[in-house]
Formats: sequence, C-alpha cells, structure tokens
Amino acid sequence: IETLREAPYPIGAAISMGPLRNSEAYRQTVIQEMSSITAENAMKMNFISTGRGEYFWEDADYLVDFAAQNNLRVHGHTLLWYRHTPDWVSGFSGTKEEWIAIMREYIQAVVGRYRGKIASWDVLNEIILDDGTLRPSVWLSNIGLEYIGLAFKFAHEADPNALLFYNDYGHEYSHNRRLATKQLADSLVNAGVPIHGIGLQMHTNTNRSIDDLRYAIMAAATTKLLVHVSELDVAVNPDQNPNATFTEALAARQQESYRAVAQAMLDLPEEQQFGITFWGVSDDNSFMRDNPDWPLVFDSNYQRKSAYRGILQGIYRK
Ligand code: G3I
Repeated sequence: IETLREAPYPIGAAISMGPLRNSEAYRQTVIQEMSSITAENAMKMNFISTGRGEYFWEDADYLVDFAAQNNLRVHGHTLLWYRHTPDWVSGFSGTKEEWIAIMREYIQAVVGRYRGKIASWDVLNEIILDDGTLRPSVWLSNIGLEYIGLAFKFAHEADPNALLFYNDYGHEYSHNRRLATKQLADSLVNAGVPIHGIGLQMHTNTNRSIDDLRYAIMAAATTKLLVHVSELDVAVNPDQNPNATFTEALAARQQESYRAVAQAMLDLPEEQQFGITFWGVSDDNSFMRDNPDWPLVFDSNYQRKSAYRGILQGIYRK
C-alpha cells in the first residue's frame, strides 16, 4: 500500500479551515492519504446560520470545492447539535409549528445547497446521555420527540441521495448508550424514517481496552445500518498532565488501538463499512494538542507515526 487512499474502505479526516487554506503540507497530506473529509467546525449551525434565512457559506463552500477538485468524499457534520446553537435560535420564542419551521428551513438550506456534493450527513449529534436517556436541547423542549424523525425527513427531502447518520460518542464505555442507540435506530427504521447509519465518534485513549473499541463497532452494526467511526483519535494523555511526553511505550499502545479499530471496521459486512474518519490530520492540529496530546496518525511534521502502521496492520489483519 502506498497511502491510506488504497484502504479497503474510505479513510478520512476532520478538516480545519486555517491549515486547509494556509498549509501546503496539510493539503498534500489530505490529498495523498485521505478519501473522505469532514468539516471540523465549518458546517456547525453557529458557523453557518447567522440569522433566520441568513447564512455564512464561505468556509463550507471552500471545503466542498477542495473536495471536488481532489476527488474526496465529503461527510457533513452536523445539522443539529445541542452545543453551539446560534444565539438567534436559543433566543427564539415561538409555537411548536414555528420551531419545526425554523428547523426545516435551516436543514433544507444547508443540505439543499450541497445536494449531490455532500455524500452524507450527521443529522443529529449527541442526543443521548451516558445513562441512555435523551439529552435536553432546544429542539427537544420546543418540538418534542417528534423532532428526531422530522430532522431526518427534512434532510432526506433536500437530498434524497444523501446518507443520513445519527452520531454520538461513548459507545466504547456506555452500555446504556449502546442500548438506547440500538432502540432508537430500530424504532426510526420501523417508522420509515430515512436513517442510514450510526456514527461512533470514538474519541478514545490508551487506557481504554481494545476489546471495548471493537465491541462498540460490533454493537452499532447490529442495527444493520452503515457504521462510521466518525471522529477517531487516541489520546495518550487523557489526564491532561501538563508535563506529559509522547514516549515509545505510549506510541506502541496507541498503535494497538488504531489497529483494533481498523480491523473491526474490516470485519463488518462490507455493505456496512462506511469508513473511518480521524478527528484531525496531524498531532499539532488536533483539538487536544495543548493538553498536551499526540492523538493522531501523523506527527506535527506530517510524518507517519506508528499509529499509521497500526491502521495498516488492521486493514491487512496482521
Ligand atoms: O473560530 C473562533 C475564533 O474566531 C475565536 O477567536 C476563538 C476563541 O475561542 O474561537 C474559535 O472557535 C472555536 C472553534 O473550535 C474553532 O477553533 C471554538 O471556540 C471552539 O469551541 C471550537 O471547538 C470545537 C468543538 O468541537 C466545539 O465546536 C473543536 O475545534 C472541535 O474539534 C470539536 O469537535 C467535536 C465534534 O464537533 C463533536 N464531537 C466532539 C468533538 C470534540 O469535542
């Protein structure tokens, strides 16, 4: 294998706009190694939605154009999330019907703009808590449970070919979340809601056993939907010790985790393998770099780490 682009399923990365615009090394690594990209922040509602019917498209457009020029799949992240709701939405007061209307307008504006250009979307992000109950949000409190199915329906109307995901974290440790996710997915499918996949963020660390990582992937697959490991990183300093360094031993342990995830994805039925997305490209653009941490497969000089070797071992079952 020359690069991860030749992997048996798509491998991608979350993209941040600064280095995408300014770093040639970053761009070249993405172009050479990745088959899929996700906007780390540029497609979140607080970035795009500047007011009702007002949108900021510049960053998202730039990312989508970059993908088209370089033959990369784009995964959209994320239509609705309880965090980073724009102020005009948090402050909105209206009836249930008016809340449904603002949700529909937003989802259809975004999905519609990138119809045919963004292959898949995280429609909902992090709606279940560790204990398996639903997380409070303005959508839940103003619309009720119905908002869940409606969000998928509105996205599907705007782009009938887009694959629609429910994305969340913590499947590696929370039995209740695994169970609640399975129940939610089954009930949406039975109700005819257009949901096509489960996204497992998998922000994990070297203290988590590799069996837990594998088990999360297998559990999501029991839905029979697509499985996307959507935000993978393996922290080596989860306690955020300010004096931590990246040792050989940690690198080897991190490699094991990457290997386990890559192999578990390969072990799924082929039609469920949506792929793996790393949450960043190189260690110095990870959102946890200042912890400090070294959670990704490329080091700060864009050199392949042993974690990269772990991915190769996983996809070749070595
Ligand atoms: O762009 C502004 C900048 O103008 C401002 O000066 C600066 C001051 O704080 O903030 C900048 O925005 C920050 C943004 O990242 C871009 O750097 C936000 O404050 C900060 O909250 C935001 O953090 C992001 C976080 O989601 C919250 O949206 C992280 O980069 C991003 O990696 C993280 O990603 C999430 C996924 O979306 C969902 N799953 C968990 C994952 C990790 O937390």
